[in-house]
Amino acid sequence: MKILVTGGAGFIGSHVVDGYVADGNEVIVIDNLSRGKKENINTHARFFQLDIRDPKIEEIFKSEMPEVVNHHAAQIDVRKSVEEPLCDAEANILGTINLLQNCHKFQVKRILFASSGGAIYGEQKMFPASEDHQVASLSPYGISKLAGENYLFYYKAVHNMSYLSLRYANVYGPRQDPYGEAGVVAIFAQKLLQGQQPVINGDGKQTRDYVYIDDVVEANRIALQNNYCGEINIGTGVETTVNEIFKILVEITETDISETHGPPKPGEQRRSCLDCSLAEKVLGWRPKTELQEGLRRTVESFREK
Ligand SMILES: NC(=O)c1ccc[n+]([C@@H]2O[C@H](COP(=O)([O-])OP(=O)(O)OC[C@H]3O[C@@H](n4cnc5c(N)ncnc54)[C@H](O)[C@@H]3O)[C@@H](O)[C@H]2O)c1
Repeated sequence: MKILVTGGAGFIGSHVVDGYVADGNEVIVIDNLSRGKKENINTHARFFQLDIRDPKIEEIFKSEMPEVVNHHAAQIDVRKSVEEPLCDAEANILGTINLLQNCHKFQVKRILFASSGGAIYGEQKMFPASEDHQVASLSPYGISKLAGENYLFYYKAVHNMSYLSLRYANVYGPRQDPYGEAGVVAIFAQKLLQGQQPVINGDGKQTRDYVYIDDVVEANRIALQNNYCGEINIGTGVETTVNEIFKILVEITETDISETHGPPKPGEQRRSCLDCSLAEKVLGWRPKTELQEGLRRTVESFREK
């Protein structure tokens, strides 16, 4: 299968590319390298350094004619989206529309979209949140992800374009950087490995649903062979506090650095956790990696670096 992956030089996108290449697919990567790294890009993929807003994208669609587009490129920094909502919307909304217009024009068979279960439900009313939980995003970033889903719905309804939106929980693992939704893992792990003191924002009892990168890649692999259209949560259904993440990372890194708290970040979501039973029902997917094991592998990869 010929697959175009946007954001294929970034954390999640590059692992997805590796998975697709390993399965024998032909992969094309578009990334502007604003955050991604060239060294992350699988050497078997054809790489185009381009912004998803660039009209030149059309030339790539025309020459490559991908069957599937897997859209991971995005401005991913929630705090930056609060400070510069216009910038966020330009990349995440206008960039997505540019891509979808080309998908329509060049008759792409299926689009997979990296959405965010961590950012679109807002302060949850139900735990864990299923896909029909009310959406009430508390950041321009979350709103831009919702806008992407609404456009996908429109292209499906009006142009019959098949899509699947994967609403990720907080994804962590090797190659992640400190800016994304599970940035706390990268920040704490790197500080602890350097013998520095990480600071926990507020009381550290805020929770997130941490899903390991290999499980996310597996969802993207399965999604290629599946025709379900709509939104699907990809997480674990397990809530973990920042204090617990800190404790496990201290054990893994074998440091004796103690827990230190700073002021809470204003507007930070308190709890987040996803119900992933739909993913199991329609994709036959469920997370396999325990948090301890995923964190161990993540620390190991940072140590090697
Ligand atoms: N990391 C998480 O926990 C998480 C959770 C939910 C959803 N997501 C989504 O998954 C996707 C990948 O996230 P990630 O954590 O791997 O982030 P990342 O920053 O590592 O990857 C994003 C990639 O997109 C590229 N990019 C950014 N803007 C671009 C543009 N305008 N044109 C072309 N390329 C551009 C960057 O250079 C980078 O390589 C994003 O869409 C993000 O919103 C991530």
